[in-house]
Amino acid sequence: MDATRTHTCGELRAEMDGTETLLMGWVHRMRDQGGIVFLDLRDRFGMTQVVVEPNGPVSLEKAREFKREYVAAVRGRVRRRPANMVNENLGTGAIEVVAEEITLLNKCKTPPFVIEDETDASEEVRLQYRFLDLRRHRMQETIELRHRASQAGRKYLSEHGFLEIETPLLVRNSPEGARDFLVPSRLWPGKFYSLPQSPQIYKQMLMISGCDRYFQFAKCLRDEALRADRQPEFTQIDIEMSFTTESQVFEIMEGLMTTILKDGAGIEVKHPFPVLSYHDAMERYGSDKPDTRFEMELIDVGEMAAASEFRAFKTVLEGGGTVRALVVPGGATFSRKEIDNLEAHAKTHGAAGLAWCKVKGGELEGGVGRFFDAAAVIEATGAGDGDLVTMVAGPYRSALNSLGAVRLLLGNKLDLIDKDAWNFLWVNRFPLFDWDEEENRWEPAHHMFTMPYADEIEYLETDPGKVHGQLYDMVLNGWEIASGSIRCHDPEIQRRIMAVVGIKGKDADERFGFMLNALAYGAPPHGGIAFGWDRVITLLSGFDSIRDVIPFPKTTSGISLMDGSPSVIDHELLDDLQLAVSKKKKD
Ligand code: AMO
Repeated sequence: MDATRTHTCGELRAEMDGTETLLMGWVHRMRDQGGIVFLDLRDRFGMTQVVVEPNGPVSLEKAREFKREYVAAVRGRVRRRPANMVNENLGTGAIEVVAEEITLLNKCKTPPFVIEDETDASEEVRLQYRFLDLRRHRMQETIELRHRASQAGRKYLSEHGFLEIETPLLVRNSPEGARDFLVPSRLWPGKFYSLPQSPQIYKQMLMISGCDRYFQFAKCLRDEALRADRQPEFTQIDIEMSFTTESQVFEIMEGLMTTILKDGAGIEVKHPFPVLSYHDAMERYGSDKPDTRFEMELIDVGEMAAASEFRAFKTVLEGGGTVRALVVPGGATFSRKEIDNLEAHAKTHGAAGLAWCKVKGGELEGGVGRFFDAAAVIEATGAGDGDLVTMVAGPYRSALNSLGAVRLLLGNKLDLIDKDAWNFLWVNRFPLFDWDEEENRWEPAHHMFTMPYADEIEYLETDPGKVHGQLYDMVLNGWEIASGSIRCHDPEIQRRIMAVVGIKGKDADERFGFMLNALAYGAPPHGGIAFGWDRVITLLSGFDSIRDVIPFPKTTSGISLMDGSPSVIDHELLDDLQLAVSKKKKD
């Protein structure tokens, strides 16, 4: 058939009654009602009901041959449906097309699952047959949403003086937190490119080049443990600006996100967004990406615990640890099993245990209640009658993190989260370094290129744990959706930071000489941020996993089920690269 369609399957309306039309699409369903056959014809734009009537130009037998997902062209005439047959849920629900000619454009094998929004197909089958999975309406809607949101972002950034600039995919190996994926060089046997974990160094180079404001929808590749919100390759809106400050970055990025939400998804959000320091976020919510859609804050009960009879808590406090509490409103009705589940959750997040007691009639009941004075617990925690008090004692970070995880679990369990809220938040003033217990050394908390606060630079050598970076994350509904910093544009301070994480002297020159050299040629003060674009789209489309908003994602074990990568490579190809696969199994 060499004609083109006159309309899409989502276009025809009642006022087009009588119009000649040629539609093309997939047969969503064939309904054989004995004397009459209906074909629902579907494309990206919608669905149109085609009717094949007895004794018409198309035979019923022929219409019956059109199975699910066959590709068809239907020539026919638009007919208004009788009022009682109008389908309000369908854009084209006021009409049908009376078929005059149906042409088979292609057949389809029986699909492994039905192309409907509600599917019981396993994710494995969906990923294997991703081309069919993406035909589902909800997936098509998400692809469109992502497109609209990207367009809104591009427009906003262009209007604010940002240039869209591409950076290379074959780069020098420079560890940024995760492992690099490596690409062997054929021309230089034994040498490797890395795939970039982010365009971090390049965007800084662009600032040194005088580009002033840059953005890119950048693919980032990281060989790291995968989760629902992590993929080995993902997309960032990567952004960098010269002569800027944290507050200017906040203002422009709030404008970007509110525009994307409004123009991409029709959601109105007010700004400025609240700002919490890392310290306050941890203290109040036990998380550096707090979900502020519900309250339930952590409480420091160190003093109360120190004055109690509870030996285990006192030992932790004497060892420099902390004791934190979380009050569960109405939690006195929790069964032992429910409390055990909370404890198991706390333990998977690093707690040694979860102490608890119930407040009933001004007394403490159950758990560790007998070790405490009821009035002291009630006073310290503000718990009321019928509440459950949970407590974790331990080293600062693990105590707060684990109780923060219990808080999140409870927010969901008790249905405290307003699912319609869009709670944005900045978290800033992160420590510049983290102490790596296993490796016994300091690690950059974010990356090495962040400027410390001026009044803390003096502690770089003497007390690195005391130094905070001009670092910030944007958080939405408990997800870290963006991360960035004001950069270190002074090569000497940059060298000192590298030295703290063990990259010194010749090693620094060998690995980062090009960067240190560039900083020495008039680098402007600059800063930036990168949005985890898949995460933003996941939140906007209401999915739980970023795999649902990436057309062709990998599984949690890093496999592409559709094309079967990663795959074994022919010896010849490996020989060209002078590579051999070691037979030795890793333990
Ligand atoms: P960072 O590593 O924090 O910063 O990444 C920025 C944002 O990207 C998202 N993200 C991911 N999304 C999906 N899968 C992953 N594996 C993954 N890892 C990170 C998160 C995160 O907030 N160069 C710096 C940015 C800067 O300083 O400007 C960087 O890459 O939403």
